[in-house]
Amino acid sequence: MLLKKRKSVQATRLKESAWKSEVSITVSKEMEEQLEMIQLTEEDLTVLKACHDVVEENIREVVDGFYFPIEQNPTLTSIVNKYSSINRLKGTLAIHITEMMNGKIDQSFIDKRRKIARMHIHIGLPTKWYIASFQNLQMTLFQVLFRAYSNVEDYHKVIKSVTKILNLEQQLVLE
Ligand code: HEM
Repeated sequence: MLLKKRKSVQATRLKESAWKSEVSITVSKEMEEQLEMIQLTEEDLTVLKACHDVVEENIREVVDGFYFPIEQNPTLTSIVNKYSSINRLKGTLAIHITEMMNGKIDQSFIDKRRKIARMHIHIGLPTKWYIASFQNLQMTLFQVLFRAYSNVEDYHKVIKSVTKILNLEQQLVLE
């Protein structure tokens, strides 16, 4: 019987230049200023786009790493179960994270994140828990990316761009 081999991350080099023509930033003047503040440029989007497949292939690990601590926290579990379910939210988070690596920031990207921010206000999620869970998201993403990009220069580039897009997420949620 053939056993399906579990996909594991292969160490690789970052090949961001191949994605230059596929990235774009189309946002309002106000948002441009926010991107400028953190120096998030199209170059960062090429790096993110180059990492897209690594993140997508390992999205389960990232999402499980995010939800494990939430499942250990009775306050958060009861909020989740009141409005949704862990399984459903794992699916939507997986889409949300892979979209961050698409190489495109436009009005619909921004609007979608503002809508998610409103959802979290609606469910009464305290900011401290949002920020705390962000840490776990960041750590699991870094874990996967470090396995893939073990070359120190590549990893540094990747981490710089990933922290910028995560910072944008936080700006949108906390504004
Ligand atoms: C909804 C992401 C933190 C509970 C959502 C959705 C996304 C998301 C993408 C939209 C789901 C949809 O389209 O239906 C995030 C991110 C977080 C975060 C990126 C932090 C980094 C949390 C935490 C909780 C939570 C800590 C714990 C209670 C929920 C619930 C909904 C939701 C219950 C569904 C709301 C509804 O359907 O009305 N979140 N989330 N989230 N999130 Fe979060």
